[in-house]
Amino acid sequence: MAGKRLILMGPPGGGKGTQAKRLQERYKIVQLSTGDMLRAAIAAGTPVGLQAKSVMDAGKLVSDDILIAMIDARVDEADCANGFILDGFPRTIPQAEGLDRMLAKKGLKLDAAIEVRVPDERLLERLTGRFTCAKCGEGYHDKFKQPKKPGVCDVCGGTEFSRRSDDKAETVKTRLAAYHQQTAPLLPFYEAKGVLKVVDGDRDMDLVAADLERVLGL
Ligand code: AP5
Ligand code: MG
Repeated sequence: MAGKRLILMGPPGGGKGTQAKRLQERYKIVQLSTGDMLRAAIAAGTPVGLQAKSVMDAGKLVSDDILIAMIDARVDEADCANGFILDGFPRTIPQAEGLDRMLAKKGLKLDAAIEVRVPDERLLERLTGRFTCAKCGEGYHDKFKQPKKPGVCDVCGGTEFSRRSDDKAETVKTRLAAYHQQTAPLLPFYEAKGVLKVVDGDRDMDLVAADLERVLGL
């Protein structure tokens, strides 16, 4: 298939994780979510996790050096051989430059950077209503995606769910500001490289998924 090494961009709650998981399932290209990687590091109590926790709880960005090193190592793992979807990375211009250097060093090419565009006023509801299966990580929403049987995960049958500590309304404000100030400048960066594609993320998840496949020529 075309478009194996992808960047999925968009604001907090824009649907990056939701869409990346669908692409992963359907096309067997692995989702690399830096947010999930950092949350795993926090849960494991690693030095990176210890450093990241307070920054993430404040809704701010973790340092570029940590993120670049994390992705550099992850991309070398065997499951990335068929391509990968970067979900939440890069998030600053230095990270994007770091990614360019990293891909050049590994002899890899970026196929597309996709912006999932959603207006700010939709994001608070998306984030405050989000919850996840504690066992398998499947994502849900109080209003937009409830489990078929209340309290039971559709995928694994798990009955425990969790909510992210950074999905509180006041933290969401800081995350949104970080997106506009530090991450949105990446849109013209990738547009200038001729790899930027935009999908309207303010629609039903299935329609967003279909549009994503269309722009990627899948
Ligand atoms: P990260 O985990 O990447 O969070 P984020 O970018 O804020 O994005 P989210 O995961 O909140 O949203 P999403 O776009 O994945 O939406 P989702 O699909 O879940 O990062 C967290 C933190 O880690 C950062 O704040 C930072 O501190 C740190 N970090 C991570 N990467 C970093 C980096 N590169 N550099 C520095 N720091 C970094 O959808 C949200 C909800 O909406 C779900 O409930 C879903 O079911 C629902 N939904 C999805 N699509 C739709 C739709 N079309 N219609 C209705 N509802 C929908
Ligand atoms: Mg996510």
